[in-house]
Amino acid sequence: MIRSVLTGTGAALPARRVSNAELAQQVDTTDEWIVERTGIRFRYIAGPDETTATLAADASKAALAAAGVLAADVDLIVLATATPDQTFPSSATKVQALLGIADCVAFDVAAVCSGFLYAVQVADAMLRAGVHRRALVIGSETFSRILDWEDRATCVLFGDGAGAIVLEARESADAAGPGILATKLHADGRHNDLLYVDGGPSTTGTVGKLRMKGREVFRHAVVNLAAVMEEGLQLAGLTAAEVDWVVPHQANARILDATARKLGLPPEKVVVTVDQHANTSAASVPLALDTAMRDGRINAGQIVVLEAMGGGFTWGAAVLRT
Ligand code: UT7
Repeated sequence: MIRSVLTGTGAALPARRVSNAELAQQVDTTDEWIVERTGIRFRYIAGPDETTATLAADASKAALAAAGVLAADVDLIVLATATPDQTFPSSATKVQALLGIADCVAFDVAAVCSGFLYAVQVADAMLRAGVHRRALVIGSETFSRILDWEDRATCVLFGDGAGAIVLEARESADAAGPGILATKLHADGRHNDLLYVDGGPSTTGTVGKLRMKGREVFRHAVVNLAAVMEEGLQLAGLTAAEVDWVVPHQANARILDATARKLGLPPEKVVVTVDQHANTSAASVPLALDTAMRDGRINAGQIVVLEAMGGGFTWGAAVLRT
């Protein structure tokens, strides 16, 4: 049996951190409103030299160091993003060049906030098929570039950043060993108008700005996330009681609380970074995962559930043993 084993995580954030109070000087909002409605206190905003690809490359270097893997030994890069450096080529190929990898397979995956879960399933399938041995799976975003800074209902919610993991194919006969145990993805394209960018190469010819009907997205998020986590656990042959950690997409602290409650999981098992990073779309799950791996909360042999939901709608979960 081949399993994809998590051997390292890394993260990268822009140099500039912006508090709610600082934002309230430019936007008609308050620290109280943002904290009470979302739990967000800070977000990082990329400077002109910080891009989706440079942040992704920095996060990847940290993940490779943690895994003890040389860049030259990576044979697959899957990068989840909705904010690529260019329409083409993929930001994954830019990361490949920045890491100095002479040859590998590299491509982007677009599923917005659930992009990292999509990337994990794709990489896991390619590793288990025996086609690749060592994958960098990255979520990286610069949403600050597609925000309408005149729209207080959206611009206060998002931030920039990147997270990366190293997945390695390991042969093992031990069912209780480490690795990705199950993944489950969904998409429902009927909900395009609830969360989208009003531009694109094939429509307006412009990049466009993010538009969201927040309250309706919220309603779908709680139902879909609780359901897909249960599906993932069932596929892995586990129950919610056996979960050590949930590492959710960090959109809103109230969504995290409501989802955990629905599954009967105590809040202490949920990794929360939305207060520090805001919503970083595809980067949020690997950023939160890296935080909890490095601060010693997540240890070897534990059951970890990753979950996310975003524009499309798309949503998914992954269950792994560390
Ligand atoms: O990552 C993809 C998934 N995305 C999400 O999961 C986001 C899901 N949605 C949410 O997190 C929440 O719906 C929001 C945080 C976006 C909004 O919270 P809400 O409790 O649904 O508020 P609302 O949009 O219904 O707005 C309530 C009020 C409105 O004023 P009135 O009409 O009641 O007078 C807004 O104009 O809050 C006002 N408001 C603000 N006030 C101060 C909206 N944005 C702001 C703001 N500062 N930044």
